[in-house]
Amino acid sequence: MIAYDPQIVVKCNNLGKSYYKHWILKHVNFNLSKGRVALIAGPSGAGKSTIINLISGVLRATEGTIFVCGYNSDSDYEKTKPFISCVWDTNSLFSNMSVINNLRFFSSLWGQDWKQASIKVYELLQQFGIYNEQNKFISNLSAGSQRKVDLCRALISNADLLLLDEPSSLLDNKSKKKLVRILLNNKINGKNNNHCFSSCVSIFGTN
Ligand SMILES: Nc1ncnc2c1ncn2[C@@H]1O[C@H](COP(=O)(O)OP(=O)(O)OP(=O)(O)O)[C@@H](O)[C@H]1O
Ligand SMILES: [Mg+2]
Repeated sequence: MIAYDPQIVVKCNNLGKSYYKHWILKHVNFNLSKGRVALIAGPSGAGKSTIINLISGVLRATEGTIFVCGYNSDSDYEKTKPFISCVWDTNSLFSNMSVINNLRFFSSLWGQDWKQASIKVYELLQQFGIYNEQNKFISNLSAGSQRKVDLCRALISNADLLLLDEPSSLLDNKSKKKLVRILLNNKINGKNNNHCFSSCVSIFGTN
């Protein structure tokens, strides 16, 4: 642990990642404060997903350190996990289970009481316009609807840090706008899902 500033949710110090002596990222430094929504922009191959994978602990940095809620994402990896909820560029759902059973399962992994959690789940399904698809198997949904369920999966957690890699890919323009509204609304009304990294092209918002 370093001296922990509870206002800083992510702290990247001199972050670098290389493969076979080829540097993908070098000297990346930033802090993300509580309540901020940040977006990472850059061309294909710039290293956006790599940054998300490093913060989430999926990848190990070649140099530098990352702290999530005060814990080192490498040496204290297990301790950072409860603070992070992620959406990857491919979905993390069980294809041979229904939408609602997937969400019920992931809610249970967060230790949530389903009676309480289901209120938020049904609200999110309504907001994303997929309420009527709740009993369908994931494999029978369109790619866009699968993306929406995966976003619901991440949003039902009360994790302090929400990492989203290209969350709006596969969504049509109307759904993309809705997603931004849902994320901001969730940030304002949610308990602490207030940080978001993605591959989109702007930085906005604090509360
Ligand atoms: N396992 C690996 N071995 C070697 N190079 C890798 C590996 N994984 C990623 N890279 C390289 O790291 C660079 C950054 O990749 P990354 O996936 O982070 O880019 P990105 O900005 O997310 O791109 P996109 O917008 O296409 O998703 C790319 O040049 C990629 O080829
Ligand atoms: Mg990427």
